[in-house]
Amino acid sequence: MEFVRLDGERLTLVFALDVGGGTADCVYCGARLPEGEDLAMVAAATARGRHESQPDTPPVPGVLPERKHGWSGTPALELRRGGVRIETDCRLTRWATGSQAVHFMFHDRSTGIDVGVRWVIGEGDAVTVGLTLANTGKAPVEVERLAALALPVPARFTEVTRYSGRWADEMQEHRRTIAPDGVSHASATGKPGFSGANWLLLHAGAAKEDGEVLAAHLGWSGDHWLALEPDAQGAGDGRAMLLMGAVLEAGEVVLGPGENFASPQAVLALAPDRSALAQAFHGFLRKAVLPARADWPERKVHLNSWEALGFDLSEAGLIALAESAAALGIERFVLDDGWFGGRRDDRTSLGDWFVSPDVFPNGLAPLIARVHELGMDFGLWVEPEMVSPDSDLYRAHPDWCLHVEGRERPTMRGQLALDLTRAEVQEYLFERLDALLRDHPIAYLKWDHNRDLFPAGGQRFIQTFGFYALLHRLRAAHPQVEIESCSSGGGRIDFGVLSRVHRVWPSDNNDAIERLRIIPAWSQFLPLEVLGSHVGPSPNPITGRRLAMDFRAKVAVFGHMGVEADPARMTDKERECLAAHIALYKQWRGVLHAGALHRLAHPDPNVTGMMVTHADKALALVAQTAFSPVFDAAPLRLAGLEPEARYRVTLPEPWAPKARHYLANPDAWREGLVLSGTALMTQGLALPLTHPETAWLVALERLPQ
Ligand code: GLA
Repeated sequence: MEFVRLDGERLTLVFALDVGGGTADCVYCGARLPEGEDLAMVAAATARGRHESQPDTPPVPGVLPERKHGWSGTPALELRRGGVRIETDCRLTRWATGSQAVHFMFHDRSTGIDVGVRWVIGEGDAVTVGLTLANTGKAPVEVERLAALALPVPARFTEVTRYSGRWADEMQEHRRTIAPDGVSHASATGKPGFSGANWLLLHAGAAKEDGEVLAAHLGWSGDHWLALEPDAQGAGDGRAMLLMGAVLEAGEVVLGPGENFASPQAVLALAPDRSALAQAFHGFLRKAVLPARADWPERKVHLNSWEALGFDLSEAGLIALAESAAALGIERFVLDDGWFGGRRDDRTSLGDWFVSPDVFPNGLAPLIARVHELGMDFGLWVEPEMVSPDSDLYRAHPDWCLHVEGRERPTMRGQLALDLTRAEVQEYLFERLDALLRDHPIAYLKWDHNRDLFPAGGQRFIQTFGFYALLHRLRAAHPQVEIESCSSGGGRIDFGVLSRVHRVWPSDNNDAIERLRIIPAWSQFLPLEVLGSHVGPSPNPITGRRLAMDFRAKVAVFGHMGVEADPARMTDKERECLAAHIALYKQWRGVLHAGALHRLAHPDPNVTGMMVTHADKALALVAQTAFSPVFDAAPLRLAGLEPEARYRVTLPEPWAPKARHYLANPDAWREGLVLSGTALMTQGLALPLTHPETAWLVALERLPQ
């Protein structure tokens, strides 16, 4: 046996290598071990003997579980030749280590396939894991399954949080004990979907406790599968495994001699609590995933036309909207759906990416010029991967969509999906998008994707590559254009797409009460600067709920803020309140978009608290959604402060009219209370959180010693 040890800042991984042509097992995944820890002893301390009703040499699934030697769990790799499953026997041949990386090479003699398994500890101690295949043999091999991650799960993780969801209600958390039959899931919509099933938390603590947590995610924008098998052997040996990978259709990936294939990457992070976990994911995303972060301007405040005007577009109406937006302090005007072809409703014209002469007799130029004059830049909505049956594109090329020859073509939102594996489709879409970006000064694209991929014609994996290829080519040609990934809200959010775009649309639901659940759920993994966060109209078009502007605006500050409502339909007071919050967002975005996010706990389950600390500043948001059971809600305890430091604490105005009457000493909150980090984190701040739909921002500034 040989051992490989990888250390992050807080994390150690130890692998035991059976160098006699065996496998590599992860025998330790946890808090950083002291220097000089005897790795053989670490392995010996957890080694198991053979038990009854088990193969005489008990199989070790390790980082590349296979069926050989009697392992009955899900294998990481399944190959076929001529449709017949091959019993692989991958043996560790060599390995290479860097300071924070290890690359294991396995070889399967029967097929000549080399399998690489690579684990890298990166920024924020996030670990990326991926598998590669190389066909060194003489015959083609069909790849039926290739995991991105096979993790021997440490036994202390006994609970799992998974997510479910639907349109306008993404990322609903469910925490439960890992049942003996584990978790098995595969998506089939051609994208990760609203359910967030490509994200997962494993907990070492008892129910509801915020203890040690291990998270896993598959960075892939197509269909995924996962298997959490607490007893994969089915024989009671309790060796839990977690596997994740992209779904491959039968025959979709055939590796010819000399060809290679790589899985997407999975991301793991281990942290002492959920705030630390969020910070690990955010650090990794900021430094290692998001494109060209150093070049980004500040996240501009958007006005998006969708919930303001819908399809009711005209040049004059849009110019009026832009003018009222600029008066609020908006910095970017985004023209959403309805500007192209004959698109006067959502049943037509996708694919006809030409500015509609009915709506814009003079083209987009006058609108964009006015937007620029008003000091804003201009963004445009597109949904390139789709085609409406009622479109010039479809009439000219009815075979360009995903379909099964001779069968009906079922639509969703009245549309079909284009076959992105076809070169001519790629060419057409690139030409159209490129022309739009060359002909107009467009700073931002909202890239939408509003239907599932069916029938997928046996190519769900390579369709996703087609999406990536188109994005890649467009970004290379227009590197200064920011892109948002939207899929009817949060239907396609993952690190694969986030390595190619600048922000995501977390949900079509702008209702602030719903956002108070949706944003904390996404921000478990994604930093606030990539989460579009808009003030919508009241009543909200999806939930019908009416909410005060103060509440809507405070909630929207915690994200990449925007407005998706018509300021002309607001009262003067509402506009004033919104403008004040836009100014607050501008003042604080440097903190919110670079700092460390802390999830704030409160005994009232209807109170949500979040806080971001950065250098000597911090901003917290605390919001009450229900009627508090007590008049004086429990104080809000802050987090992430230096215990010994002293902070000036203020409540930035405006204040919610209903709640301000309950402040004990308003002037003290204006001038600022000075308290130590210890006092703020232990006892906290007594804020009026009695009334439903009231929220507070809490600003902190660390004072010089
Ligand atoms: C999707 C998006 C919305 C909006 C509409 C336009 O539903 O999620 O934000 O852009 O399309 O049709």
